[in-house]
Amino acid sequence: MGPSFSSESGFGLKSSDFGPDFIWGVSTAAYQIEGAYNSDDKGESIWDRFTMDYKNIHEGQNGQIACDFYNRYKTDILLMKSMNIPHFRFSLAWSRLIPKGQGNLNTAGIDFYNRVIDLCLECGITPWVTLYHWDLPQALEEKGGWTNREILNWFETYVRHCGRLFGDRVKNWIVLNEPMVFTGAGYFLGAHAPGKKGLKNFLPAVHHAALCQALGGKILRETVENAIIGTTFSCSQITPYSTKRRDIKAAKKADALLNRLFIEPSLGMGYPVKDLKILRRLEKYHKPEDCKNLIFDYDFIGIQNYTREVVKHSFTVPYIRSKLVSATKRNVHTTLMDWEVYPKSIHAMIAQFNAYKGIKKLIVTENGAAFEDTLINNTVDDKRRQSYLKEYLKEVYRAKKEGLAIDGYFVWTFTDNFEWAEGYYPRFGLVHIDFETQKRTIKNSGIWYSGFLANQ
Ligand code: NOJ
Repeated sequence: MGPSFSSESGFGLKSSDFGPDFIWGVSTAAYQIEGAYNSDDKGESIWDRFTMDYKNIHEGQNGQIACDFYNRYKTDILLMKSMNIPHFRFSLAWSRLIPKGQGNLNTAGIDFYNRVIDLCLECGITPWVTLYHWDLPQALEEKGGWTNREILNWFETYVRHCGRLFGDRVKNWIVLNEPMVFTGAGYFLGAHAPGKKGLKNFLPAVHHAALCQALGGKILRETVENAIIGTTFSCSQITPYSTKRRDIKAAKKADALLNRLFIEPSLGMGYPVKDLKILRRLEKYHKPEDCKNLIFDYDFIGIQNYTREVVKHSFTVPYIRSKLVSATKRNVHTTLMDWEVYPKSIHAMIAQFNAYKGIKKLIVTENGAAFEDTLINNTVDDKRRQSYLKEYLKEVYRAKKEGLAIDGYFVWTFTDNFEWAEGYYPRFGLVHIDFETQKRTIKNSGIWYSGFLANQ
């Protein structure tokens, strides 16, 4: 018997208002939850390596244990079932399946994902598998990682294996998670693994990620019968800081970089060079056949939205001459990530993506918030998270009512987990984890979501 849930949804919407085919779920990622970083012949990933340097992560933390999902997947999937969650998005750790990134496969890794997939299906939960959520095998990084064009071959082989191994049961696939973030934070700013910096790393990483995205789609199409193939993009509404021409121009450049860089080439529009001249330098990495190889006809596009960005002109920021004005400086309501709570952003992004020709379905593959949570008497009364989710959902609903395409919504995330460079400090989960004891406690937001999914 699962816990019983209150029927209080308190915001006047029911899940059935979004239509019978609307997809509801939760999203996760391997490195953030699995732990077992070196168990059963798993290979090292760039996040295993990057977190070894204490300075890289809040309080020197790492994902070596995380939520111990590798050992506790049964408890977690059963809990998910008890919470009426019908779709579960998780990622495959490339280095668990192919420890060195290429070459030998690891049977224990294959078995683990088979067990996860089979249990989902037994529980009536549909698995949505992300092929790449940022944890490149370290052996490949040593050969240049995303900056090396060889990654097209490494990725192709990896995807082919995944399709062949799991495609009989997994039909919903996501090729990449937020390529802008892993190339930007990992290969330009050095804030994420592998900690590389500068345009000379960023630009080739961008081009190769964009090519791999389309290539991954094509390989899945070949290997998995009836596959539903998508990929995901981070996106935020961009607001100019003032009505000054140069702030408006700065906002346009930020939009090209943060929201348009990967979707437009995949639709055959090329990179947004007109609005961001520096992207012309991507040409250096282009082979003649690349233009068409950037394109793939996805069955759905995933958008991931949390906040908006306010952007102003800057004389000092190189290449782009734009900078983000932090939410703290603007004195607005924020989450623990210092991200402004701005529900209209999700509506604006649904509208912006709807304006493209050629997107068949649009799904919010991540939305959620980190707030200070306190566990008292087995309860986490996370009112702010609940109201965040409700306010954003109202905006999703408004988009739907206006006739915009929007076909699903996944909460980030199921349980509290390892939030990359921020460590365990920001908790995004619907379920609280005590990282000392690994005890799970459904937060009030989770109780609310469960009731909402049961259409109460
Ligand atoms: C985007 C990423 O896909 C996910 O890994 C991350 O934890 C959330 N956003 C929150 O920052």
